[in-house]
This record gives sequence, C-alpha cells and structure tokens, in this order.
Amino acid sequence: MTRLVKLNGKQPLPIETTNKKVWICTCGLSDKFPYCSGKHKFIQDEDDNVLYMYDENLKRKEVKEILFYEE
Ligand code: FES
Repeated sequence: MTRLVKLNGKQPLPIETTNKKVWICTCGLSDKFPYCSGKHKFIQDEDDNVLYMYDENLKRKEVKEILFYEE
C-alpha cells in the first residue's frame, strides 16, 4: 500500500521528556521517523508555493496537478 501525505514542516519539533530531549520529524523525509534524522536539510530551498514529491533517494520533483478519482 502506498499513501500520499502532505507535510509542510521544515524543521524538527523539539520535545522534552522527563529525562531527555528528542526531535520529532515534521518534514516526512526522516529515515528514523518519527524522529528527525537531519534529512530536512534537503528541503530548505523549497518554494513555499510549490508542491514537491520525493523518491526514496530524495530526488525531488515538482507536482503540477493531483487528480482524485471517486469509485
Ligand atoms: S524534520 Fe524531518 S528529518 Fe528532520
């Protein structure tokens, strides 16, 4: 199964627990999800008005149109 999920975070979200601080991924590219792995560095030059897709090698493509079909 494959899902299309839209995320717009560009920085990790710091969370403090009782004995440590962790960083939660908000960009969706982490290979340690839900924790940040530093991959958000690849999205810092994104245009906020453009929708992008990334493949498993972090190759970026611009999305021009998404079509939804109802059954
Ligand atoms: S916020 Fe996603 S990898 Fe850091």
